[in-house]
Amino acid sequence: MAALTFLGIESSCDDSAAAVVRADENGVAEVMASVVEGQTSLHAAFGGVVPEIAARAHAERLDYCVDRALSEAGLSLHNIDGIAVTSGPGLIGGVLSGVMLAKGLAAGAKRPLWGVNHLAGHALTPRLTDGLPFPYLMLLVSGGHCQFLIVEGVDRFRRLGGTIDDAPGEAFDKVAKLLGLAQPGGPVVEREAADGNPARFTFPRPLLDRPGCDLSFSGLKTALLRARDALVAEKCGITVQDRRDICAGFQAAVTDVLAEKTHRALAIYLEQRPLVPALAVAGGVAANKTIRARLETVCGENGVRFVAPPLRLCTDNAAMIAWAGIEQARAGMPSGIDLVARPRWPL
Ligand code: KG4
Ligand code: ZN
Repeated sequence: MAALTFLGIESSCDDSAAAVVRADENGVAEVMASVVEGQTSLHAAFGGVVPEIAARAHAERLDYCVDRALSEAGLSLHNIDGIAVTSGPGLIGGVLSGVMLAKGLAAGAKRPLWGVNHLAGHALTPRLTDGLPFPYLMLLVSGGHCQFLIVEGVDRFRRLGGTIDDAPGEAFDKVAKLLGLAQPGGPVVEREAADGNPARFTFPRPLLDRPGCDLSFSGLKTALLRARDALVAEKCGITVQDRRDICAGFQAAVTDVLAEKTHRALAIYLEQRPLVPALAVAGGVAANKTIRARLETVCGENGVRFVAPPLRLCTDNAAMIAWAGIEQARAGMPSGIDLVARPRWPL
């Protein structure tokens, strides 16, 4: 196996990112540089990501991110063996910014170019950080995604289930908004929940009564809205402790649902008798300590290794895209400058 050094570019949502990853002859990988420029402040006033603003910011900042990543790695484009770019799924204006920049760089420096599915980037990250062998189970829990995948190969993913409405991170963000807390909601709700009583409000555990691994989070948000409005009607407002208890009740419900569905997904996965059974998590919600600890317990109960890559590689970044490009190149998947940007692209 030849050593490979790849440049990765990511711009599918609200992070402009570029990274350089090197994999040596033995397959051991090193993230030489990983630059992520978030856009939270640009979208804050709108209560969500505005696609047009995101696309413009990517167009303005991506080339700078690439320059910085190359200079932090101490390399120029001529030392790079290949370029990998997120070509979907995502907000199409942003994806196009990244794809067009990558095509320009690939053509100018005469380097091969691979298009990477953003979800595959997340799904392959445990191989970059922990060298996990196939097949492993992946739980992707972010602001935009929620799904269980058995990762069987570089381009072989078996989807066991996923959310039928909101992603859990989106639910955390909406809850924060309902309670007048800052965005992104996840870390703030987690902090509030730490001082709350999770038993005071019993929120629903959606879809637990139905078989399978699908999840739902939008009903939870509605139940929470009702609880908040009842408190407001009763006392003309909610106290700090009310808010903490609501956050704790909400987090407990999300945790219970994710834990039970993980049990079910593991049962299906373990039927494959994997040599090194493992569950890996990715996405911003995997940063939540209560959720993480519970998933770790579920893994322990099933005799399965729990793998949580460092947070900077769990949330959106370009190192995972560079790594997925290396995996695709090593698997003999074709490169080409004619790749297209795809707003929708299920695995
Ligand atoms: O993976 P990510 O950075 O971006 C994408 O959605 O692609 O995930 C961001 C999401 C946000 O919705 C944020 O509220 C949530 O992850 N999040 C958390 C925590 N930290 C971030 N949710 C729960 N607990 C946390 N500690
Ligand atoms: Zn993502």
